Amino acid sequence: MIGAVFAVDKTNGMGYENRLSWPHNPDDMRHFKSLTDNQVVAMGKRTWSSSDMPSPLPNRLNVLFTNNFLDREDIFQARGDIPTALKKVQMQHADKNVFVIGGPNILMQAKPVLQRIYLTRIDGEYMNDTYIDLDMFLEGFTYKKSLRLTNCTIEIYNKT
Ligand SMILES: NC(=O)c1ccc[n+]([C@@H]2O[C@H](COP(=O)([O-])OP(=O)(O)OC[C@H]3O[C@@H](n4cnc5c(N)ncnc54)[C@H](OP(=O)(O)O)[C@@H]3O)[C@@H](O)[C@H]2O)c1
Repeated sequence: MIGAVFAVDKTNGMGYENRLSWPHNPDDMRHFKSLTDNQVVAMGKRTWSSSDMPSPLPNRLNVLFTNNFLDREDIFQARGDIPTALKKVQMQHADKNVFVIGGPNILMQAKPVLQRIYLTRIDGEYMNDTYIDLDMFLEGFTYKKSLRLTNCTIEIYNKT
């Protein structure tokens, strides 16, 4: 399965100054960790560089999209057509799920091969400089279910 997991605030904001816009949300972080643990996570270079999270994310195969490859062997690096790269990684790791974790730039490019979306809606509005066009992003997906947690709701969508 190739999926996406990410969070937005009430204005569809995703980040500010290359960090998450909201204060630490333990429930959302637990959800993210349990979903992606031992799986594949794929991200853009700005997300990789964010001070919010360690890079690479431990106990996961990290896929980094960048036009300027880093000199390291412990991650998979790709550039160009993101759907093609994601399908290749999924084929090479058929026993794992591949999760695109952001940012919005990469999510939009990955959309054609996404089968499921795990969307966290964080309560409240925050200062953002990075947004996602959610109407466009969710087009072609069907709402399946949601789970209410502390200060956030997780929604799951499947490709229609
Ligand atoms: N709320 C959330 O769930 C969430 C999740 C993730 C990130 N964020 C936030 O989102 C913001 C970052 O998102 P963003 O959209 O600006 O950046 P991003 O998607 O993380 O990274 C963009 C970079 O990825 C590389 N890239 C993009 N397309 C590529 C392609 N086709 N081939 C090769 N490389 C490619 C380029 O890096 P090079 O310049 O190195 O080529 C580009 O500058 C931050 O504020 C972060 O905290 C929020």
